[in-house]
Amino acid sequence: MEDLVVIGAGGFGRETLDVVDAINSSADKPTYSVVGVIDPMPGPENLRRLRARGVDYLGSDDDWLATGKLARYVVAIGNPRIRLRIDTKYQAAGHLRVWPLVHPSAGIGSSALPGDGSVICAGVQVSTNVSMGLHVQLNPNSTIGHDSVLDDFVSVNPGAIISGGVHLMEGAFVGAGAVVLEALTVGSYARVGASACVVRDVSSGVTVKGVPAL
Ligand SMILES: CC(C)(COP(=O)(O)OP(=O)(O)OC[C@H]1O[C@@H](n2cnc3c(N)ncnc32)[C@H](O)[C@@H]1OP(=O)(O)O)[C@@H](O)C(=O)NCCC(=O)NCCS
Repeated sequence: MEDLVVIGAGGFGRETLDVVDAINSSADKPTYSVVGVIDPMPGPENLRRLRARGVDYLGSDDDWLATGKLARYVVAIGNPRIRLRIDTKYQAAGHLRVWPLVHPSAGIGSSALPGDGSVICAGVQVSTNVSMGLHVQLNPNSTIGHDSVLDDFVSVNPGAIISGGVHLMEGAFVGAGAVVLEALTVGSYARVGASACVVRDVSSGVTVKGVPAL
């Protein structure tokens, strides 16, 4: 079994624990042993929720890195810029990213392997020939069209639909239920609001919302 720490005690942290539990239950023997959850400032309610599911709280990133212990890590935080910052810190300290965490109910097409540190939640559908970078997060029931390219640190929120041939550049964030039409590009660290319909390319760093998304 591989030791794993989950960074982030919030909602996505616990959803990631669910993905890990599902992976462990689907194999003959468990793949991961969860050492615990890391968070610099967990709220009391989130700590109670972790305790209720029998998961240890390990303190802040600095507390964990100071122990010198080695485990693979997954950054279970929705904000792409925060994921980048935390990943940079753990890489500098010589730690290893987790292999892609793919919920057994997710459908992954041919030639569509996600990169290390990625979390693919329940009900996700990824079509064929999709390139996915490091630390990509695909939330429940999102769909990724054929021949799309998702760069590092992309977040696709629940129910969003990415059409075929789309390029989501590094750190692009697509809100819940949004649609990105085919062959478009969403720039790096751009944000697409929940329920938006993207009908033209989105520049890097920009936030768009509505139908059509402006
Ligand atoms: C678009 C978004 C990124 C903007 O966030 P923000 O910069 O913090 O913006 P604010 O919340 O301050 O809202 C700014 C304005 O946009 C409006 N707005 C916010 N989100 C909107 C959306 N998705 N569609 C249309 N209008 C939206 C607000 O009502 C507000 O309008 P006002 O200026 O007339 O009062 C964010 O609202 C969003 O949709 N995020 C995705 C949420 C999501 O996917 N949640 C699921 C998590 S699992």
